[in-house]
Amino acid sequence: MKILSIIGARPQFIKCAPLSRAIRKEHTEILAHTGQHYDPEMSDIFFKELQIPEPDYNLGVGSNSHGEQTGKILIEIENILLKEKPDLVLVYGDTNSTVAGALAASKLRIKVAHVEAGLRSFDRTMPEEINRVLTDHVSDLLFCPTETAVLNLKNEGITTGVYNVGDVMLDALEYNIKIAEEKITALEDLGLSPKEYLVATVHRASNTDSFKNLSSIINAFCDIDIPIVFPVHPRTEKYLKQYGIWDKLCEKVKVIPPLGYLEMLKLMAHSKKILTDSGGVQKEAYMLGVPCITMRENTEWVETVEDGWNVLVGADYEKIRDTILNFEGAKKRGSIFGTGDASEKVSEVLRTFYSEIIL
Ligand code: UD1
Ligand code: UDP
Repeated sequence: MKILSIIGARPQFIKCAPLSRAIRKEHTEILAHTGQHYDPEMSDIFFKELQIPEPDYNLGVGSNSHGEQTGKILIEIENILLKEKPDLVLVYGDTNSTVAGALAASKLRIKVAHVEAGLRSFDRTMPEEINRVLTDHVSDLLFCPTETAVLNLKNEGITTGVYNVGDVMLDALEYNIKIAEEKITALEDLGLSPKEYLVATVHRASNTDSFKNLSSIINAFCDIDIPIVFPVHPRTEKYLKQYGIWDKLCEKVKVIPPLGYLEMLKLMAHSKKILTDSGGVQKEAYMLGVPCITMRENTEWVETVEDGWNVLVGADYEKIRDTILNFEGAKKRGSIFGTGDASEKVSEVLRTFYSEIIL
């Protein structure tokens, strides 16, 4: 089968690495990079580290308003679809690249497969929630990472083409953690001792685009007596500078450029706790058995909270501080994200879909 995979943002590069490897064993894959993320440390580094094949197309759409960014991707992807005539389009996650790719394909009556389908925060103020809902409703194959995702789709009337395959991010983590442990010297380089530092990431619009929220997060980080490694997303850097916080950051918060995946994995694996508003990082904290403090009011990854490894604190200074001090995580973890073979399972479903539906 001829598959056009569409990626464009950091977490999509990571998700596509194991899946691209699996599907290329039996299908033809054309890779389109929308260019939503373009800084070398937000894009190129992942292609090199994770040996993702060179994209066949790079649309170079860059940053812009939601409408303009989504619209440009829609136009460019349509041109590629008309030229390449793939049997199926594969999209990942919940970004503007995801929804634009899915919409372009479905309007041309090309089958759409969505990896990481069925996630819901039930918060329509998040642009990602709009992207998820719309993408799921035009998809023919919905690859869910969890049982909750399957149930969310059922509640919206979507029951055909739904498969719980587990999470491709677990495949990526299991494949790369050993490499990271052997090769990466980030702890030594940053002068850190195992379990004596925290890792933080912040990039969610609800936190970065609000002076009140971003400053209360940074104040909480600075008022805790433990080093915090803070690889800063370019969106967050822009706002920290705009708000005048960047030049006044306390020394204990080690602000560094965005990390490659291997460095990030190594630093997370040996950290005492993780502070984040990222979707992927919440899951990785669980997979690595590191307590996670999520600076959001809600999460799509509800199982991590139910299992006692993740706690939601919003952008509240007191809650962030108190939780850093007191939250220890649970004792046991389940296999909520599957068994690390999601990519193989997706590939199997694609094989059957091709022979039964497309041929
Ligand atoms: C996007 C996704 C979000 C995902 C995140 C992963 C949407 C609506 N949001 O958010 O779901 O969690 O990616 O990281 O699709 N910028 C750069 N260089 C880059 C990329 C971005 O400087 O390489 C800056 C630009 O100022 C840009 C801002 O970051 O305006 C935001 O980038 P954008 O891709 O629009 O959204 P993210 O916040 O990265
Ligand atoms: N990540 C990374 N370097 C960083 C920050 C995050 O490699 O400096 C990885 C992280 O380990 C996870 C993914 O990027 O695999 C999550 O992406 P992000 O937080 O940007 O997006 P989200 O998952 O919230 O959509």
